Amino acid sequence: MTGIADNIDQDPTSTIAGRLDRRRVILAVTGGIAAYKSCHLVREIIRAGGEVQVLMTDAATRFVAPLTFATLSGKEVLTEMFPEPPPADPIHLTPARWGHILVVAPATANFIGRLAGGLADDLPSTVALAFQGPILLAPAMNPRLWTSPAVQDNIEQLSRRGVNFIGPEEGEMGGVHEEPGPGRMSEPDSILNRIEGLLADRSRWQDRTVLVTSGPTIEPLDPVRFLSNRSSGRMGDAVARQAILRGAEVILIRGKAVAAPPPDGVELVEVETAAEMSAAVKAHFDRCDLLVMAAAVADWTPESPHASKLKKIDGIPELTLCQTEDILAWAGSHRSRQAIVGFALETDDHLEKAGLKLASKGADLIALNDPTRPHSAFGGETVRLTLVPRDGEPEELPTLTKREAADRLLEAAQRFLSAQ
Ligand code: CTP
Repeated sequence: MTGIADNIDQDPTSTIAGRLDRRRVILAVTGGIAAYKSCHLVREIIRAGGEVQVLMTDAATRFVAPLTFATLSGKEVLTEMFPEPPPADPIHLTPARWGHILVVAPATANFIGRLAGGLADDLPSTVALAFQGPILLAPAMNPRLWTSPAVQDNIEQLSRRGVNFIGPEEGEMGGVHEEPGPGRMSEPDSILNRIEGLLADRSRWQDRTVLVTSGPTIEPLDPVRFLSNRSSGRMGDAVARQAILRGAEVILIRGKAVAAPPPDGVELVEVETAAEMSAAVKAHFDRCDLLVMAAAVADWTPESPHASKLKKIDGIPELTLCQTEDILAWAGSHRSRQAIVGFALETDDHLEKAGLKLASKGADLIALNDPTRPHSAFGGETVRLTLVPRDGEPEELPTLTKREAADRLLEAAQRFLSAQ
């Protein structure tokens, strides 16, 4: 994207290789008095070596003129959904593809509600829906609005989707007649620190390849019948999606039985049997920095599946099963730099059995799950995991959406990544 003015405030020592090192921030300014503080935020981001593309809602332009932000950011401010002449690329996709992070400051109750509801009725809300990287909201509003059940519900829903928040804080509000209480937008310095933190997390994952297995395997008895399990593939898919959002390259080896579309941006390898999954993991293992074995791999497979359909007339067939290869254990004994995360499905003596799996399979971390517990069933939206690292205390997570749990799992796995 092109700017309307060159970078202002050109102190080379402050901008070259600054803390943000040319990272690209989309700053959506929505209509609240705290918009004036966002002018300082733009300055701070530029001083830290970042770039800023400002978007404004119509209401925001009543508080601060777009020209102020354009001058501070060195880029034309985008406000219109349908600018004239129409740009070649859809206007909402241009910034959504350009940015490394989207910051909404101030974020009004109205904007938070629109984002939670998936509405796209102006440029900032449409860009926010289309944006696939980390999102940071800095709410600012009257304390009565902030504490209203509707706003709190929206915040909770957005948090579940992985949206980050900073503030609001208690203290003097922008408007002189406003009552005290929580609602004041965080200071630009704190917002900048948070932006830096979120981007740093991402940079730890850039240039990393994550290999994720997901879903059930199916083991054929004959051309029409098979043995399988209840895995939905949601947990593994969530890990793959969150790894993509962190900037990693992701290879997803997934059971064909999973019908859901794969997360955007993954390299998908579809397999059917445990043997195919094992071959696929081995083929891609050298390339990866982290293996997450979320698949429910069959432990047994029919020793000799019938080439033609078994017929009733021939009587009840005798099934002879043989053991499949333990893929996780193979990975644990063949790794060089790779960090390895496995899952453990246990219905009793949970921690003890997870500890045994951790050691016997040579993993760095085991995500322990009991599918018989409420909110942790196969195929559900939520899961209750306990993360058991090889070198520390188990961490019991609360009931979380699979997306949040995947985030926590990657956070915990991060420290096992080898130095680059
Ligand atoms: N796993 C694997 N290869 C297999 C079976 C399991 O890589 N043939 C992996 C799973 O993906 C998971 C971990 O091993 O990450 C543990 O799976 P789980 O089913 O809990 O345990 P099993 O090793 O199969 O042992 P058991 O079923 O007896 O508890």
